[in-house]
Amino acid sequence: MKINANFLNLKDSYLFATVGRKTAEYKKAHPEKDVIRLSIGDVTRPLAPVVVEAMKRAAEEMGKSETFRGYGPDQTCYGYDKLLDSILGSYARKGVTLAKSELFISDGAKSDCGNILDIFSQDNVVLVPDPVYPVYVDTNVMGGRVIIYADATQENGFLPMPVKGTKADIIYICSPNNPTGAAYSREQLKEWVDYANEIGAVILYDAAYEFFVCDDALCRSIYEVEGAKDCAIEICSYSKTAGFTGVRCGYTVVPESLVREGVSLNKLWARRQSTKFNGVSYVTQMGAAAVFTEEGEKQIGENLAYYRKNAETIAHCLDELNLFYTGGKNSPYIWFKCPNGMSSWEFFDYLLENANVVGTPGSGFGKNGEGFFRLTAFGTHENTEEACRRIAALLKA
Ligand code: MLT
Repeated sequence: MKINANFLNLKDSYLFATVGRKTAEYKKAHPEKDVIRLSIGDVTRPLAPVVVEAMKRAAEEMGKSETFRGYGPDQTCYGYDKLLDSILGSYARKGVTLAKSELFISDGAKSDCGNILDIFSQDNVVLVPDPVYPVYVDTNVMGGRVIIYADATQENGFLPMPVKGTKADIIYICSPNNPTGAAYSREQLKEWVDYANEIGAVILYDAAYEFFVCDDALCRSIYEVEGAKDCAIEICSYSKTAGFTGVRCGYTVVPESLVREGVSLNKLWARRQSTKFNGVSYVTQMGAAAVFTEEGEKQIGENLAYYRKNAETIAHCLDELNLFYTGGKNSPYIWFKCPNGMSSWEFFDYLLENANVVGTPGSGFGKNGEGFFRLTAFGTHENTEEACRRIAALLKA
């Protein structure tokens, strides 16, 4: 028996697990302290009422023999028509036409970001931005692939562009970005799409934060860019859009026209999913189907506005402190430079001990994140305001 020795090349623990452990240790040592967590991007607003009602109705159906359902429809990799139609409707409103056969319902973007690698050879060279959502790196380390990095820095606004002559086979793009909150313009995305098509690479486009985009110059789907259906797989989630971090539902788009080495990637992914996945529960899918209805979009819009207000509160605090930051506008993340030349982990400890506020150290996302720090806008108004008050008081002192 041999283990997958690639796992030995991973860092000891997943970034957010390390942050969680350090926070728990601090709380254990100081039970009297009121610690505010603005670290992991976990939502705090409850599900929209239309989602709850749809899930209740679906649960009732499951309790009656006439309407009970077992496995989902296998023709669509277990996606129910009602959900697929609502997703197609949401794409149509962005001016993107897709077919049902191009949609795959999942239990979230994180799983699909990792699972999609099953359809690619181990020999591929993977290009990821640095700093980056750790899942892209860790899942490729597990698979033993060669990873190269595109430097995202303060100088390029944390939006690296293709460098001529770089040979990559799989390219990860997340826009609006986790962790930096920076978002590519339509023209910049077009450059990436043209580059991928030119070199025959595949873009894995993580659109988990698309619903935070409010600037018309930005895309909400990579398929708004001409040529993207020939090179890009788009991975989406209801987690941040509709508060599904605990419910679990997402969808991945693999266009029919995406072909490499004469093979349809859509067919490969369908084959992978029908073998290794049995779909998302009926109750969850019916809840998700309610999200992209007129009433659903209105209700999730209220939650998104709530988080945007938090982002504004944090941005205002950083403006007052005169600290450089990106994000916060079309994104729920705010990425800022640690004050007084502190390293990311030094600032983490300083903030935890002196303001009892937890954020995420930028260096946990890659070497270019050193000296930066991430806060999320997914907390409550009260906690966000209190955290900003404490940060301002500490840093102005
Ligand atoms: C984050 O904080 O970066 C996200 O919550 C991670 C995730 O969505 O898995």
